[in-house]
Amino acid sequence: MREFEEFRTYTGHICSEHQRLNRMLLEARHQIDNWRARGEELTPRAVIEGLRGIQAELKHHFGDEEGEGCLEEAVSRYPKLSAKEQELIAQHPGLLAAVAELIELAERGEERETDPAEFGRKYEELYDRLHAHELAESRLMQQAFSTSLDIENGSGVH
Ligand SMILES: [Fe+2]
Ligand SMILES: [Fe+2]
Repeated sequence: MREFEEFRTYTGHICSEHQRLNRMLLEARHQIDNWRARGEELTPRAVIEGLRGIQAELKHHFGDEEGEGCLEEAVSRYPKLSAKEQELIAQHPGLLAAVAELIELAERGEERETDPAEFGRKYEELYDRLHAHELAESRLMQQAFSTSLDIENGSGVH
């Protein structure tokens, strides 16, 4: 029972952070669609602000994951996942760099130097990368905790 409660706490925390991030990403997509539809009359100010919010959220979220948080707890329960955890954490700098690049590109859009349609395509690439990253983390958490629950219950999964 204690294991189950811990499982809920850890996976609940990471899932709620991933959901919050996803809402922010969907809102940014909505603002990008507006910019694409009304590019001539609309500056990408809302897009820039949305991306800055995502950048701050990601820095905080990645910092959490790199510290003594959910992922470390998962690996301590199921050390075989250590390489996968390291691989996922190693993706963080590249993802942050991609967000910074998009912010810069959107800022150039204020001077009409960025094509909103091209920007939209780049944003979708980032969205897919982030989605795949977060999904892999959620799977790692599930695998670690379900395995540790199985071990505790004596079903012998190692
Ligand atoms: Fe991550
Ligand atoms: Fe994450």
